[in-house]
Amino acid sequence: MPAGPAGVVGRRQMAVAMSTRTCVGILLGLVLAGCDGPGGPDTAGGGSHGDHLPPVGIKVKPFAIGRPDVVLLITGGTHGRLEICNCPGPQPGGLSRRSGLVISYRRTFGNVLLLDAGDFFWVKPEDPRNAYVLRGYRLIGYDAVVLGDHEWAALWGPLRRLLAGQPLGYLSTNARARGVRLPAQRAIVRRLGNVRVAVVSYLGPRTLWFPGGSADRLAVEGPEAVARRVAELKRQGCVVVLVAHAEAEELPPLGEIPDVDLIVRGNTARSEARLLRLGRTPMVRVGGADFVAAVAMKVRGGRIVAIDYRLEAVDLKWPEDPRLMSLFQAYAHEAMRASYDSARGLRLRYVRPEKCGRCHKAQYQAWRRGPHGRSWRALEAAGMTRQGDCLTCHTAGFGTATGFRSPRQTPGMAAVTCQECHRSNLQPHAQAPARHRPPPVIQDTCELCHTPRTSPRFNFKTYRLRIGCARVPRVPLKPPRRDLSSRSAARRAGP
Ligand code: HEC
Ligand code: HEC
Ligand code: HEC
Ligand code: HEC
Repeated sequence: MPAGPAGVVGRRQMAVAMSTRTCVGILLGLVLAGCDGPGGPDTAGGGSHGDHLPPVGIKVKPFAIGRPDVVLLITGGTHGRLEICNCPGPQPGGLSRRSGLVISYRRTFGNVLLLDAGDFFWVKPEDPRNAYVLRGYRLIGYDAVVLGDHEWAALWGPLRRLLAGQPLGYLSTNARARGVRLPAQRAIVRRLGNVRVAVVSYLGPRTLWFPGGSADRLAVEGPEAVARRVAELKRQGCVVVLVAHAEAEELPPLGEIPDVDLIVRGNTARSEARLLRLGRTPMVRVGGADFVAAVAMKVRGGRIVAIDYRLEAVDLKWPEDPRLMSLFQAYAHEAMRASYDSARGLRLRYVRPEKCGRCHKAQYQAWRRGPHGRSWRALEAAGMTRQGDCLTCHTAGFGTATGFRSPRQTPGMAAVTCQECHRSNLQPHAQAPARHRPPPVIQDTCELCHTPRTSPRFNFKTYRLRIGCARVPRVPLKPPRRDLSSRSAARRAGP
């Protein structure tokens, strides 16, 4: 957190004030949706983090042009950022506050179009965060998402799979992949009130730099192709927004395309506080995870007759969206679990806890009755058993090859199983238990799931005593025992 101590206190107080508001919002949401929420929505303290309803939003200050016909909200160059940090306090720039901002704008102005100008992926295409970014974008409800060079770089990797799994309004007007079918559209048109807004994009060839492959696999057309598309949409009476995902020197010809109403400069990590111009066309420059550009316009006969612009910081003013916080926590869990295991050279293959229970009857019984053996029930109670972001911590190995898929497909895995803590494979442990012991369960292991947010009162010393199989504190390693029956395990587990 960049602020000094005084700033921290201020932020905490704001966070409390904000949570109270979120609470009211959630309560209201519960009543309106008639949905059974998990427990009381006590977001300020230790209660449930299972709240999954979006916040109600706050009132946004009016624009100078009076009530706009349409508001465009624009992001760009967000580079795989989900949240800024995993700290308990406020998190400026995160997806959860961005969602709160969008909800607030939609609530205040009604006709809002949400657009991303590209480069929302982290540069490393295979990084698991990219799938989470797309899930987040779907939850926030993006209308148009331009494929920038960061996304195209994943063409040699997971791009097709990622886009297919997360249906969204992907946009690519002048670039397509040779021989690969992607669900990207040439133009995205939305009707907002009486106004039709069309978004097209231009990918500048100079932005393309592919470490993993050759740009030949992309067919990229010049600005004329985009100009033709613009003319066509203009004939249909649309307000046309052109996203230029391009280098600075590639911009001038785009400023000369007639009939473009607004240009959005993508491929940038910087945001500009005022509206720019390219030729005679107004231009927005926005980039970085912590800004959203807002363009308000009045439209007559398919033309912008009045325009107002502001750059919003994604800061504490906006309510936090618990759905996006959960998504972030699930990502953090997956990333930490992977790095934790790979540091030990472990490829964990998940087995049913009954397999461990064959030899560890006492631990198995205690576990089954304990919180981790019953972690599925919390999801059932919340009605969230199909929500990937909850399954990550409430089941065994969700998202891995051998982990939980569904209670029917993977019986026994709808729980926080033995291996979630004792990160070790069944074999060779079961063959030679004394030689291949699971590693000690350390505080870090618990904190994969017990984060400041999901478990604000977590305390390793006291929680450890309440998990069933660890009622007896760990004894120092002894020479291998020959008496390895389940009876001895039962004795060691205590009364
Ligand atoms: C990062 C891991 C993690 C994620 C993601 C997660 N949970 Fe949890 N959940 C926990 C932990 C840890 C506890 C136990 C907290 C405690 O009592 O200390 C818990 C407890 C709960 C409880 C019971 C206690 C309570 O707070 O009411 C519910 C209900 C619950 N989670 C629902 C959900 C839902 C719904 C989701 C998805 C939106 C979800 N959880 C996502 C880790 C997680
Ligand atoms: C074939 C029987 C058998 C199976 C199956 C088995 N274990 Fe064990 N396990 C043992 C025995 C015996 C010991 C005691 C080893 C010793 O302390 O010398 C042991 C010890 C342990 C310990 C304590 C290690 C220590 O440092 O004291 C843990 C934790 C453990 N097992 C977890 C598991 C888990 C998790 C599974 C399932 C993936 C599992 N076991 C499956 C027989 C088994
Ligand atoms: C929430 C985490 C967690 C889960 C889930 C869990 N354990 Fe443990 N277990 C521990 C901790 C902590 C200890 C204390 C020893 C240590 O620190 O390694 C322990 C100790 C043990 C021991 C050694 C007991 C002793 O007296 O030395 C065995 C055996 C064991 N667990 C088996 C299991 C089996 C079998 C399961 C599943 C049915 C299971 N555990 C599930 C955290 C867990
Ligand atoms: C894979 C995720 C995960 C790991 C790892 C994990 N837990 Fe949990 N834990 C949960 C979830 C989920 C719950 C909530 C279960 C419920 O209430 O339905 C929970 C609940 C608990 C509870 C009950 C809390 C309450 O309010 O009653 C205790 C105690 C606990 N965990 C201790 C531990 C300890 C100690 C460790 C590490 C040794 C650990 N857990 C590791 C996911 C995990």
